[in-house]
Amino acid sequence: MCGIVGYVGFRNATDVLMEGLKRLEYRGYDSAGVAVKVGGRLEVLKKAGKLSVLGDVLKDEKLPGHFGIGHTRWATHGAPNDPNAHPHTTEDGRIAVIHNGIIENYLPLKEGLLARGHHFTSETDSEVLAHLIEEKYDALPGSPGRLVEAVRQVLQEVYGAYALVVAHQDHEEIVVARTVSPLVIGLGEGENFVASDVPALLPYTRRVIFLHDGDMAVVSRAGVEVTDLRGNPVEREVVEVDWSLEAAEKGGHPHYMLKEIYEQPRVLENTLGGRLHEEHANVELDLNLDPARYDRIHVIACGTAYYAGWVGKYLIESLARIPVEIDVASEYRYRDPVVDERTLAVAISQSGETIDTLEALREAKRKGAGTLGVINAKGSSITREVDDTLYIHAGPEIGVASTKAYMAMLGAMAMLAVWLGRARGTLAEADAKEFLGELRKLPRLVEQALEQRAHVAHIAEKYHQAADYLFLGRHIQAPTAYEGALKLKEISYIHAEAYPAGEMKHGPIALIDERLPVVVLTTDSPFYEKTLSNIQEVRARGGRVIAVATEGDLEARRFAQDVIYVPRTHHLLAPVVSVVPLQLLAYETAVLLGRDVDQPRNLAKSVTVE
Ligand code: M6R
Repeated sequence: MCGIVGYVGFRNATDVLMEGLKRLEYRGYDSAGVAVKVGGRLEVLKKAGKLSVLGDVLKDEKLPGHFGIGHTRWATHGAPNDPNAHPHTTEDGRIAVIHNGIIENYLPLKEGLLARGHHFTSETDSEVLAHLIEEKYDALPGSPGRLVEAVRQVLQEVYGAYALVVAHQDHEEIVVARTVSPLVIGLGEGENFVASDVPALLPYTRRVIFLHDGDMAVVSRAGVEVTDLRGNPVEREVVEVDWSLEAAEKGGHPHYMLKEIYEQPRVLENTLGGRLHEEHANVELDLNLDPARYDRIHVIACGTAYYAGWVGKYLIESLARIPVEIDVASEYRYRDPVVDERTLAVAISQSGETIDTLEALREAKRKGAGTLGVINAKGSSITREVDDTLYIHAGPEIGVASTKAYMAMLGAMAMLAVWLGRARGTLAEADAKEFLGELRKLPRLVEQALEQRAHVAHIAEKYHQAADYLFLGRHIQAPTAYEGALKLKEISYIHAEAYPAGEMKHGPIALIDERLPVVVLTTDSPFYEKTLSNIQEVRARGGRVIAVATEGDLEARRFAQDVIYVPRTHHLLAPVVSVVPLQLLAYETAVLLGRDVDQPRNLAKSVTVE
């Protein structure tokens, strides 16, 4: 949610900022801006719209300098226009501030500032920070630590969430602080960087420090000093990130989303890689948690990660016979969940920064639960707060619509189910071996599922003018239906609803007519016949059925107008192969409608505000 980049060193700062912001644009694209020190003054340029609008202005107005900060915005307070774009400055332009998050008490602070004669140019909560820092700064004696001290004093007065980046024309250092919203520092030789996410740093360095909640840092050419909010030095580990630059780029594909869809076989290999041990009828997950301690699991997640958790519920309940509740994280903390020390809370998240998931996890912890993160981003906030982490190893996911991370989450949840099932004695050795064998085949099966792209593109062409879509699936394919509908909504803006197939006749059936495409997940399973009946119910009312069926299923052809075949696998693993054509359907539809696939309207990749 909002991209931040800061640079101090010897390179052209504007180039570094723009390059970094390009890699972070998935975090927000309502406006963009930079502040660069040119000839002793901070020059600010900011524009509503995508980064390219700012890029065009910068072609004419060069900002040569070696020190600066930049931002791409996902609007919270104030419309996405030029004045509300970051950086925000003091009236004299000495101080520039970039802020990601929400300052909850900004209104009384702003009233105080107005009464003391400050003038505001934006409607944002963030601008109060620039004015407050100015007041504190001017009241302090001149010393090298003056800027950081001013920021520190301001942070005693504000509450809310922030990743804060401050520059002053008279100090060649960037002062940063974080609470809730992520910030990472990149370490170079004679140069240092700040960013809200690792991809911005990859062209320059892989040595990074992930700041923790309540950390501040002063970042200069010479080095980085990390302290707490009171100024006490704190030690933070320098982490070597293994994401390659190539992995964070499009690699010849027109969109990140398509690239990431095609990466899925490799991603799944990485997720499962080295962890499946058929010879021991088990998986090696390197977890310290004690499975005997728990008699129920609460899965908490948002969006696509929530649907992965829902698939996980079926897997864990089937293989490990532990009751699993799943909750949309934003609801969990407010429903006063029944939690005790025999509850394991499993937080699933690609970014590891989603605030709803983090807060739900904290709620479970407060109530005594053990905690496990199923996470992609190393060093992210959730990984620091859980007892244990199961990394999904999907690599950087840039497309706002999540695809490969979902795939990796499914792989991770399947392994977790096996591990729990073996530990609890509910999964027999022979069954475990067979299931692991099926898991091992998945990367190849996903590759086969991708071969359906041309056929899916043809179906997308047929239905891309539809105003609505319905997605149906039963049992472990219900979440697949929801994920398919979410993908279509997110990037094509077509209204799509999903239902467990058996629920259709309890209401949604009223929607069915000859204009409504209905995607039905009807892969092989013990419930196959029942789903087939649902298809017939749709057909009997004139609906247009697109069936996702197991290869070789001729029956599906008799009832559906269109059939997309996916490879045969264990019915509990069918979501892995079935989601692929649904991702492609959403992608092809969005492209046909001329949508911005990688930057769909109103969305941001990682949601760090509640
Ligand atoms: O980073 P997370 O996995 O915690 O993100 C959760 C959701 O915000 C995310 O899955 C969102 O729904 C995606 N846009 C789905 O494509």
